[in-house]
Amino acid sequence: MKVLQVSAEIFPLLKTGGLADIAGALPAALQRAGCDARVLLPGFSPIMADLQNSSLLTELHAPWGERVAVRLGLLASVGVMAYVIDAPALYWRHGTPYEDAQRKPYADNYRRFALLGWVGARLANGLDHQWQPQVVHSHDWHAALTSAYMAFTSAQQMYVASVYTVHNLAYQGLFAPRHFFELGLPASAFSVDGLEFHGQLSFMKAGLFYADHITTVSPTYAREIQTAEQGCGLDGLLRARSHDLTGVLNGVDETVWDPATDPAIAYGFDADKPAGKARCKTVLQQELGLTVQSEAPLFGVVSRLTEQKGLHLVLAALDALLAEGGQLVLLGAGDPTLEAAFRERAASRPQSVSVHIGYDEAYAHRIFAATDVTLVPSRFEPCGLTQMYGLRYGSLPLVHHVGGLADTVVDCTLEDLAGETANGFVFHHFETPSLLRAIRRAFALYARKAEWRAVRSRAMRQPLGWGNAAARYVELYRQVCPGNEGFL
Ligand code: ADP
Ligand code: GLC
Repeated sequence: MKVLQVSAEIFPLLKTGGLADIAGALPAALQRAGCDARVLLPGFSPIMADLQNSSLLTELHAPWGERVAVRLGLLASVGVMAYVIDAPALYWRHGTPYEDAQRKPYADNYRRFALLGWVGARLANGLDHQWQPQVVHSHDWHAALTSAYMAFTSAQQMYVASVYTVHNLAYQGLFAPRHFFELGLPASAFSVDGLEFHGQLSFMKAGLFYADHITTVSPTYAREIQTAEQGCGLDGLLRARSHDLTGVLNGVDETVWDPATDPAIAYGFDADKPAGKARCKTVLQQELGLTVQSEAPLFGVVSRLTEQKGLHLVLAALDALLAEGGQLVLLGAGDPTLEAAFRERAASRPQSVSVHIGYDEAYAHRIFAATDVTLVPSRFEPCGLTQMYGLRYGSLPLVHHVGGLADTVVDCTLEDLAGETANGFVFHHFETPSLLRAIRRAFALYARKAEWRAVRSRAMRQPLGWGNAAARYVELYRQVCPGNEGFL
């Protein structure tokens, strides 16, 4: 089956969060499941630089008249054939893929990402005579217009299905309605039965409305986004489409996240030979100037510092955590207020708290390897990858019971310890006392060495790879293009 994945980011070339990890791992996982997967990406400079043996597929005029090229080549770091939109005026900029250096969204984002969807739909429609996808699978609002353009492309001999995955409903891609007429969509699309959302242009809604099938990244989040509380104003539409909405839990890319072979960490380890983990902890404590102690747990946070991640609860619980003898190491960047608050805490307790503001892939690996507990107290979390990396690296996740966190972490209650299903710590009320009780449970278990080791070993053995998710996507692809059996 030929599947085209459309996304704005891809690990290891361009990453602002978990979306990139998924976009980087899914093509190979689909190939292993028997698909012929390719990707379509905007031509950001790291992506252009990685593209090997590329050839010009075609030159086109975007709906607003701008001339752009589409190249096809091998994306060497990912090992997948990639269509890349070569449009330096749109994509070669400083800052993140979405914002300038002052964290201001680029004014022409609606064009930059409409183009991604528009080219996706052209590829669905046979732009490359050598390779036409049967399914086009787009990810998050940046790629969401793919489904809308596909819905308005004249019928083909072969039906090409569209699948749209929501990685985070909170980021919607809202733009002023005046831009609608630049996008080349029929006027009928700008309506409540289309991509209009409270008078604005919503890329997210385009994906949700026009895709043949919608997925999101965990079963629990698939339910949560159909409620007013977590639906971000789109719950009505999501409820109306509930029969076309599936939660597929993300996997972990085990070629990147494996403590036995990870080149970023000082000592390798796994569930059978865990000794290296204690050494990684000592090395990190020494390096950061933390008191070297193995007797109390080291807590870790690797996170975007945003409202979503609930880290103000960690600030509120920190004194109690330190009073129990724990330590905290944090790597993150984002909200300046949170950055300043964590920096301040590190400055006042340098032997117990270490804070690094910034983005550092290798350091993230070392934190998972060294810490005993990975804190993920998110207010909401579509899937969450860091709790899964924590499991894999024997850093037991301590999480709020939402979204993918609820689907992957089982609390160390007496019954789940006895039933050998516990793999971490879970709190149910999004407030400091509830988090504190979970932290106390972590200390209590840590004091029972044999039990801690048993839970940690189970966590590290938990199957988290991409096999299940890839099989689930293939099943969905088959469902959405039933007329194509001959090709599948
Ligand atoms: P989200 O996509 O909402 O940020 P996820 O848990 O799905 O949350 O994915 C976050 C990804 O980004 C993980 O791979 C995590 O290790 C990584 N990450 C987050 N912050 C940093 C950072 N400051 N430095 C390095 N990696 C980070
Ligand atoms: C989003 C979500 C996160 C999820 C990631 C990958 O960034 O916030 O929960 O793990 O996408 O699907």
